[in-house]
Amino acid sequence: MDVAQTIAQVRGAVAVARKKGSVIGLVPTMGALHQGHVSLIKAARADCGYVVVSIFVNPTQFGPGEDFDRYPRPIDQDLEVCRHEGVDLVFAPTIEEMYGEGTLTWVQVDRLTDTLCGRFRPGHFRGVTTVCTKLFNIVQPDRAYFGQKDAQQAVVIQRMVADLNMPLEIVVCPTIREPDGLAASSRNQYLTSDQRSQAPILYKALRRGQEVIEAGLRDPAKVVQQIRHVLDQAPDIRVQYISIVDPQTLEPVDRIVGKVLIAAAVYLGQTRLIDNILLDLDR
Ligand code: PAF
Repeated sequence: MDVAQTIAQVRGAVAVARKKGSVIGLVPTMGALHQGHVSLIKAARADCGYVVVSIFVNPTQFGPGEDFDRYPRPIDQDLEVCRHEGVDLVFAPTIEEMYGEGTLTWVQVDRLTDTLCGRFRPGHFRGVTTVCTKLFNIVQPDRAYFGQKDAQQAVVIQRMVADLNMPLEIVVCPTIREPDGLAASSRNQYLTSDQRSQAPILYKALRRGQEVIEAGLRDPAKVVQQIRHVLDQAPDIRVQYISIVDPQTLEPVDRIVGKVLIAAAVYLGQTRLIDNILLDLDR
């Protein structure tokens, strides 16, 4: 496995792989790799001849007061995970390598970034789309892999790739969960043991939403009420939002029909957790 810190090194290594005819897969990450990332790497490994994992805690997607400084950076452990999964190249650049003196150019996806998490994290998706564009331009992958846990991110990236005619396929892989249902996330490690024991209620609450929808409830406000009722049982959970939206436009739906995304964000202490369930009532 090669480890590159510079853009020139990545371009060189990928050029050799492409010359050999390999399909190039990219798994963009911020490190602190967990089973969710491993599933993305495995999917890339199964599809692509040459797999690149980027590890970069991207400062432009963190707002003031968010967790950029304390975001975990266990690089040796991450490299070990990548080695174990048969990754060909890890790109772990410095901030200077990625942003030089700063950036005057941003990639901004409108509308889709105004709802759900975008309402509460102004500038976050602009940072994500900008860094992903840079990573796509640096690596020039045929395919890039993202997790369904970050449902809004996946929709925004797919739209950016379509709107800007970027020549790659975005692959969205299912959310990986701990045995108790908690979605795998690098931020789970912030939780104290007491908070960790309350955390699975987020998925439990979303499942309650799914159940009542499958039982015939079609009024989104009533479904949200049911979800909130479950979350209220955890003493330390603070709800940021619970929304039922169209999975493509991310706009709240008036009535539940066809495909819907049930999405929520909560705080447990200082830690923000998100999760979602995608439902297809036509199936
Ligand atoms: O999902 C993430 O970890 C990040 O948002 C990403 C896609 C690596 C961009 O920094």
